[in-house]
Amino acid sequence: MRMLFLLLAFFVSSAMAGEESVQLKDGNGKEAVTVQCAMCHSLDYIPMNATNRAGWEKTVNKMINVMGAPIEDGDKKIIIDYLANHYGR
Ligand code: HEC
Repeated sequence: MRMLFLLLAFFVSSAMAGEESVQLKDGNGKEAVTVQCAMCHSLDYIPMNATNRAGWEKTVNKMINVMGAPIEDGDKKIIIDYLANHYGR
């Protein structure tokens, strides 16, 4: 019983930790996306806005050009590939 309570407490507190509770799918580029895209907002935005490759290109360009995300050209390609492969439709 006591064990169960501890377990529950753990799940509740990790759910409330917020931003960090979002786990992106494993894959090449996950690290880059986690670091570069969680700087300004929750990673929730990614699954919530799943789109095709052209859509992700547009979104990533917007994050860079409009929002000022400091993403280098090399990372940009990795990030777009990751997003299109794992959160494409
Ligand atoms: C420099 C800050 C910053 C960084 C870094 C950043 N974003 Fe954003 N992003 C924003 C802001 C500001 C908004 C819009 C305001 C809001 O809704 O919070 C936004 C909105 C979004 C949206 C919602 C749809 C839209 O177009 O508004 C998506 C999807 C998104 N970002 C994805 C990403 C991804 C993927 C990355 C990593 C490549 C990223 N963001 C990195 C600032 C940033």
